[in-house]
Amino acid sequence: MSDSSSIKSRISKNVRSISPYSVPRVECSVKLDGNESPYDLESREKLALSKRLAELPVNRYPDPEALELRTSLSRTVGFPRDGILLGNGSDEIIQMIVEVLGGKSGRVLVPSPTFSMYRITSLILGKQVTEITLDENFDIDLEPTLEMISAEDPDIVFLATPNNPTGNSFSEEKILEILEASSGAVVLDEAYCDFSKKSYVPHIEKYENLLVLRTMSKIGFAGARLGMLFAQPQIASEVNKARLPYNINSLSQMVMSFALENSDFIERKISLILSERERVHASLERIEGIHVYPTDANFFLIRVPDADFLFTELVKNDILVRRFEGEGRLADCLRITVGTSDENDQLIEALVSIFPS
Ligand SMILES: Cc1ncc(COP(=O)(O)O)c(C=O)c1O
Repeated sequence: MSDSSSIKSRISKNVRSISPYSVPRVECSVKLDGNESPYDLESREKLALSKRLAELPVNRYPDPEALELRTSLSRTVGFPRDGILLGNGSDEIIQMIVEVLGGKSGRVLVPSPTFSMYRITSLILGKQVTEITLDENFDIDLEPTLEMISAEDPDIVFLATPNNPTGNSFSEEKILEILEASSGAVVLDEAYCDFSKKSYVPHIEKYENLLVLRTMSKIGFAGARLGMLFAQPQIASEVNKARLPYNINSLSQMVMSFALENSDFIERKISLILSERERVHASLERIEGIHVYPTDANFFLIRVPDADFLFTELVKNDILVRRFEGEGRLADCLRITVGTSDENDQLIEALVSIFPS
């Protein structure tokens, strides 16, 4: 069959040009590659949850508006329920935002390096993506960013703060300048805000073009898939038009309502992760050959002489981290999620043996 009669000829150039988001499957018992929480629910909480799940009518569709869950979130965050939209992970909300708010210039601006789904989703949806390299401290390079905003009038600017995979928060003045300069949407992705303790949700009242994304994935519920959008209600209701009915299944709604009712254990785990973050950071800094970047998130970016070698050595030690093959500026970097205290000990021990001083 010739190329032009193949079904593949119907696939847009953008889609053909990208590689899919992929998570390599390497079996290791210490999993420090996914920025997840290392802590599952404890058995007491699992038991209470399983009692509730036993009463769940799975023959019925879930509440399409997830009213109970959105009401709990509204109370927890102190934000009007009508301005809260839920997604099957924040990945799904990124998609809805590009579908709904990407319709004027067709351009999307993302910094580089950052979370890859902004670019992948925008390209799949036919948008033109401009990447602006972060400065030497991985902060926003303001001048070229403002120039691009003025020249190309992007429909959407995506900024993750703290940023993945670099771990730092962007400076507040720069974020506010971008908000002021943009007539399109500025999406602040706060996936890691539970570890930075900084949120821009209070600014939403002032800025119609500010959309804030959050997720439950980094604080113990990656498997339940729940992302949240906070925006002015008239913007949230437009984005909501792209939401598929029943996108949050009834099991996830129940698990997340349970989690919010019992939020003290979430806070306890966040505190544990924060104190482990300080301990691991201090240990990494003492290892000659490793440069560890400052972090406000639940992971570290490190730079080493040979990232492939270190990745392989860590796998031999049953420890999985994230590498960035062929990703330019990150080629000699690895990203390491903060684990449990035992896992972190295992990591430090392995690193000390790989980098003897
Ligand atoms: C910055 C950022 N945003 C969004 C996501 C996706 O989160 P979710 O699991 O809610 O889809 C991630 C996941 O790694 C992330 O790092």
